[in-house]
Amino acid sequence: MRALLSAVILGVAGTLAAPAFADGDALKAGKRVYMTKTCLACHGRNGAKPVLSYPALAGQNEKYLVAQLKIIQEGGRVGNPDPSTGHPFITGMANIMHLLTADDIKNVAKYLAAQPAAAPETLDPAPEQALLDEGEARYKKLGCKACHGKDGTKATNKAYPILAALDRDYLVRQMTEMRDKVRTGGKSKLMFGVIKRADDADIKAIATWLSQVERPSK
Ligand code: HEC
Ligand code: HEC
Repeated sequence: MRALLSAVILGVAGTLAAPAFADGDALKAGKRVYMTKTCLACHGRNGAKPVLSYPALAGQNEKYLVAQLKIIQEGGRVGNPDPSTGHPFITGMANIMHLLTADDIKNVAKYLAAQPAAAPETLDPAPEQALLDEGEARYKKLGCKACHGKDGTKATNKAYPILAALDRDYLVRQMTEMRDKVRTGGKSKLMFGVIKRADDADIKAIATWLSQVERPSK
């Protein structure tokens, strides 16, 4: 009887928990990709502590991550040269993307989206409150919130990126490259109408403010 009961309980638990198990497997597989295919070296522990001016991935929207990984794999994400190497910032990553299968991309995106985000980086020197306020005001005035939400923490579409707590220099670079039509892949064209009205001072203020907004963990 006991054996039968536990078999029934196991059976029920198995049925109810099936999607969770499947998800757990994808998360594990995603973590394995992250740890073994060199991602860790540049994007840091659990995607939350990137090096240099590289993007934080922990807590980013899964759909956005999948789309970017595919674009980067296909060579469709380009950028201005990094003055210290002479190559676009994405080159080192683009060179290893052949190691990933389509399933690896899905799994690693699921894993990264589920990781808790780190606290915003400490800027040195600390930004003036006036610059942060300016950044928030310009973000609102230019209409960024229509797609990225009121403070960059919750995009209005899951295919759009969360901007809160990205590295300041990374934010400056991406905005500038979209404004100058260097980054044109994926859905970046959606940005063009708005970002063309941003001058360098707008970009600096907005990037500084967004880099200091806490990113929620899922
Ligand atoms: C040699 C360093 C390096 C390695 C290794 C690397 N990346 Fe990257 N990754 C970058 C840089 C730099 C960028 C941003 C490029 C830019 O500034 O235009 C980036 C961008 C990304 C983006 C887009 C983020 C966004 O907000 O648009 C994703 C997703 C990503 N990397 C995931 C990964 C994964 C997963 C791996 C492992 C398979 C990996 N990266 C390996 C350096 C690296
Ligand atoms: C109409 C919708 C829309 C508006 C308005 C918009 N964006 Fe975006 N933004 C997007 C989409 C979609 C992407 C992803 C592009 C891609 O697929 O490569 C993006 C990407 C970005 C990125 C790069 C993020 C990353 O992780 O690489 C930054 C930074 C950004 N937007 C800032 C802004 C700012 C600042 C404004 C206002 C000046 C703005 N956006 C207005 C839709 C929008």
